[in-house]
Parts: sequence; structure tokens; C-alpha cells
Amino acid sequence: MTGIFFMETSAPIGVYDSGIGGLSVWNELRKELSAESMIYVADSANAPYGTKSRSFITGRSREITRFLIDQGCKLIVVACNTATGAAITTLRREFNLPFVGVEPAVKPAAMKSKTGHVGVLATAQTFKGEHFKRSIGLFAHSVELHERAGTGLVELIENGMIDSPETKELLIKYLIPMVEQGIDQLVLGCTHYPFLIPIIQGILPAGIRIIDPAPAVARQTRKVLEEHKGLNSKLSVVGYRFYTTGDPASLSRVLEQLTGSQHLVTKLDGLPTAGSGQSS
Ligand code: DGL
Repeated sequence: MTGIFFMETSAPIGVYDSGIGGLSVWNELRKELSAESMIYVADSANAPYGTKSRSFITGRSREITRFLIDQGCKLIVVACNTATGAAITTLRREFNLPFVGVEPAVKPAAMKSKTGHVGVLATAQTFKGEHFKRSIGLFAHSVELHERAGTGLVELIENGMIDSPETKELLIKYLIPMVEQGIDQLVLGCTHYPFLIPIIQGILPAGIRIIDPAPAVARQTRKVLEEHKGLNSKLSVVGYRFYTTGDPASLSRVLEQLTGSQHLVTKLDGLPTAGSGQSS
């Protein structure tokens, strides 16, 4: 943040991700902060971010942040490990409002591990990010990390193929080597992956803990709101709005599965379109 920020308590919280994955965080925010309104942006037209360059992700993050600020948001949750690692430092420097990010939960995994082996499944870009490298430096002395990029998983989830044989095949390919290396903790380092938990549970032997950071992110968001005296009162009307640069029907489908009710999703055409942004 660049200066003093006055938080309007009734203003919405902005939440964004490269696609539908951030809904796993949105869902925890909804439970933890039931009096808060939220605006969610899925940049599905540009998913996955995990194979894109840092400058591309930072550019998209800037555009989405401007949009959320124009909608009156009081705080932004970067509900994407990849965008947090690539862009949150820049966002905090350039915009005068608080940001909460998501990082692979290496610390709780390292603290709980008895075998000394921790698996991390995340995007290739997240492993390159400064946040991940810092987390390893701070918290992973006592354990050996087994890192694996979940290449292809985000695309399958975005295309509604969670329960497909392709998804299971990729998960087996990524997870079994970690099991053989003796992990007892699996860190989900991408907000899309919690949608795969039932399949992951079917692959991993009993006793391996799966760590989704979303509840911790929701608690951290509450803390930041409190620090800024920006927590909403229980008396106001809560509203949720959803935007996507991709196909509104995909986001609607996942929302219906999560909440049991239908939500209107608006196609977001206003943001400038981006180039291919492939990571070199
Ligand atoms: N859901 C995202 C994350 O947490 C982005 C994945 C992607 O778009 O590659 O990393």
C-alpha cells in the first residue's frame, strides 16, 4: 500500500483467479465472512496462468485490480498461487488498498510431517515465484520437499473434466512418485486443485494429509479487514457478483455445485485483451 487507506465497511471484497479455481477460496471466504459482499473475476480466457510469463500475469493482475477498484472493492484477495507469486509485490506497490494472497502451505506441512517428506503440487510458475522460494528458505529446513508441476490439470478443470479418466491419469502420474518417496503431507499449491480432492483421496494411501490453504486465507482476510476497521456489520445485505473473461456457463456450473443455487455470471469484455504470454 502506498498511503493511508480508508476502508468503507459495506464495500465488497474483490477476488480473482486465472479461472474457476479461486472459487475454492471464495467458498471459504463466504463461510468465514458471511456478512461481506464479494465480486469475483475469473480470467478464464487467459487460463492457465501457470505456463505464462511473470510480466503477462502481472499485466493481467493490474487490469483486473483496476476493474475491481472501479467496482468499489475495499480489499482484494488474489485467489491464485501463481498470480500471488508473480504479481502481488507489484500490486501492493502500485495500488492503495490491501491485498491478501495465496501461497503453498509449506509451513504447516513441514511442522506436521513425521516422515520428513512433503509433496507440493503447484504450477510451474508458482515454483519459480519469489514467495515460494522464500517459504522454502524459511520453513522447509527440516523436511525434504518433493515438487511437481501439475501440468494440464488446470485446463482439464476449466473444461469441466474433473471426473475424467485423463484427470485421474495425470494425478496418478504426478502423485505416485511422491508416495514412493514417503510423503505424509501433500500441499495443494494451486487453487484449482481442491476440486480434485475426492479423486486425490482415491489415489493416495490413507494417512497422507492433503492441505488446502483456503481456510487460512479466509482467516487472514478477516484479520486484515479488522486491522483496517473494515469488517462489515451483520445488518447489511450481502451480494455476490461474478465476472469471467471466458465462458459464463462454466463458472455458473461450478458455482451451482458449490452453493446449490444459481448465480448470474457476466461476461467481462471490457478488459484489454492480452497476448499469448507464453513463459520462455
Ligand atoms: N488457480 C491458480 C493457482 O492457484 C492458477 C493456475 C493456472 O492458471 O495455471 O495457481
